[in-house]
Amino acid sequence: MFKSKDLLGLYGVSAEEIDEILSLGLKLKERLKRNEKSFDALSGKSVVTLFYENSTRTRCSFELAAKFLGGKVINIAAATSSVQKGETLVDTGKTLDAMKNDVIVIRHPMGGAPKLLGETVKAHVINAGDGMNEHPTQALLDMLTLREHLGGLRGLKVAILGDIRHSRVAKSNLFGLTAMGAEVRMYAPKTLIPAGLERMGAKICSSREEAVSGADAVMGLRIQLERQRGGNFPSLGEYAKYFGVNEEIMKYAKKGALVLHPGPVNRGVELTCGLIDGDTSRIEDQVLSGVAVRMALLLLLTQGRVKL
Ligand code: CP
Repeated sequence: MFKSKDLLGLYGVSAEEIDEILSLGLKLKERLKRNEKSFDALSGKSVVTLFYENSTRTRCSFELAAKFLGGKVINIAAATSSVQKGETLVDTGKTLDAMKNDVIVIRHPMGGAPKLLGETVKAHVINAGDGMNEHPTQALLDMLTLREHLGGLRGLKVAILGDIRHSRVAKSNLFGLTAMGAEVRMYAPKTLIPAGLERMGAKICSSREEAVSGADAVMGLRIQLERQRGGNFPSLGEYAKYFGVNEEIMKYAKKGALVLHPGPVNRGVELTCGLIDGDTSRIEDQVLSGVAVRMALLLLLTQGRVKL
């Protein structure tokens, strides 16, 4: 039974709760693959997406997830809202509460903004990415994709390579995957590895080969130039050559190991185009997993136990 009011991150979320979201998400993904996308379980409920940062995948898939379930959706971009007139996050949340809104999906550049909002409003709050903190629904959709294609998560070896320092995706995957019994290896230039990840359960590797060796799946992470002040590596070309994931490095992984990326991807930097578009890539499939897992989460948060 999913008991939480909000989903703020995967830190501290139990394996049972993750399993419940993924199990429902997998059933919904099967329905979506059959083009069944007209449900009424969220009828009478409203969802506001409140985005203070750019997004394509996350915002659209939350909107589609809510609409496929029969809910009403309003999209607010901070750039065109009363935030520009100086309204605070808390006052924005209280305003939405006063309108009897049920769910707020928030993306914000400040780590902790969804928590502040969740403590203030009656609506359910879902973190759609907060600064460098967490992006829990991205990790849930990554886990759903891995579970679907590899049959489970326990015992999997997952290598994450890229801009780990600035990545909320890396942290949510670390918390989620380790809770589910997977091993998470990480590799990046030392400038892009923050302190403390080992204490959180990651295996920090000293080479790409070590990270990828025997891995069931390899995830590239976007180089987040918008959060960097420069000086982390000499150039994007050198990053790709010495730290990126390419066909040569993938030879160290398990045969047929899956290639993942949360998107948006810098083609030829984090991953080669051949890997992005290759047979083992599940990058497009991750996007469909995103709609399904967000449908599952909306149902579980607003209704508790759900049977399909
Ligand atoms: N993966 C992800 O969060 O993508 P968007 O920034 O497009 O939402």
